[in-house]
Amino acid sequence: MATSATTEITFEHMSHPAPVPAAKREEILENPGFGTNFTDHMVSIDWTEGRGWHDAVIGPRAPIALDPATAVLHYAQEIFEGLKAYKHGDGSVALFRPEANAARFNQSAQRLAMPEMPEALFIESIRQIVKADRDWIPAGDGASLYLRPFMFASEAFLGVRPAKQYKYLVIASPAGNYFKSGAPAVSIWVSDYTRAAPGGTGAAKCGGNYAASLVPQAEAIERGHDQVVFLDAAEHKWIEELGGMNLYFVFSDGSLVTPSLTGTILPGITRDSILALARDEGLTVREERYSLDQWRADAQSGKLVETFACGTAAVVTPVGKVAGREVDFTIGSGGPGQLTQKLKNRLVAIQRGEAPDPHGWVMKV
Ligand code: PLP
Ligand code: COI
Repeated sequence: MATSATTEITFEHMSHPAPVPAAKREEILENPGFGTNFTDHMVSIDWTEGRGWHDAVIGPRAPIALDPATAVLHYAQEIFEGLKAYKHGDGSVALFRPEANAARFNQSAQRLAMPEMPEALFIESIRQIVKADRDWIPAGDGASLYLRPFMFASEAFLGVRPAKQYKYLVIASPAGNYFKSGAPAVSIWVSDYTRAAPGGTGAAKCGGNYAASLVPQAEAIERGHDQVVFLDAAEHKWIEELGGMNLYFVFSDGSLVTPSLTGTILPGITRDSILALARDEGLTVREERYSLDQWRADAQSGKLVETFACGTAAVVTPVGKVAGREVDFTIGSGGPGQLTQKLKNRLVAIQRGEAPDPHGWVMKV
């Protein structure tokens, strides 16, 4: 058993008694899909009131036993993050903006009345699992190791108040394309359901937001679409975001619009990165409200030429069709647009170490 220290916290290293055999692992990495295969290890760190963070372990991935009264099972006090590790051409491994995930994790923690984690500890936990499972990072186009840090209320207690004990875990999953269809552009359904209301938890990455999005997402799939888009809760007019991605609108004059961060949408790290990359290109990007009616009118008049969704899992995905109870329209030719492709290429090249990194986003492990 080895140990390594970071920011006053020492990670205990427990080696895996029976890791997945190399041949099986290689088979999985050939076609990893999304979210179905997992690596050999996980990180676990506990937090207890009065003691803070303690018992950091990088060890074998294994089921966890929970008391039936564990608070998260009743009141959903849980938050998570999503980021990726990439294998670069020189064999090194890199993360993309992990400090931004650490910051958002702490914003989510604040909203859910949970303890914050020092940025250095969050990043070290990511480094630990990536080092332990570095043989699990698939190479090739669109492939990466998806990392899922999360924290939940682990105290066995049924009173409704912030828990006094939490568990933080990081698991990892080799990932290919998020959308199974492999279609060049996705089709989205405008939901009558609401994802988030002012004053709610829309800007936090908490499990409950996703639980509430499952019925609308299932409805989208039933109707033959890939994803659901949510409108604002108050007027049901302004476009917010998809179930797991932010949106960008591209106009014929080369300018872009993305919905502003009003507190009801998730502040995506991909969204923020595209904002910077588009501005680097000299493009005008506005963060402002954009309505469904305007979207349809602009798509039909030709003023709007492209729309794309962006997020860690989905990277940059063109939106080709939009339908809802009162709308049905195609964007541009219904396929991927030029600017969408250009911005995606710029982003992916930085993430993969194939282009200069002017913003210092890439962190080698
Ligand atoms: N919006 C929602 C609701 C999400 O779940 C995600 C994914 O994390 C995003 C947007 C995109 O965020 P990011 O680019 O940080 O992955
Ligand atoms: C991500 O992109 O990291 C997400 O969390 C989106 C989805 C898998 C929930």
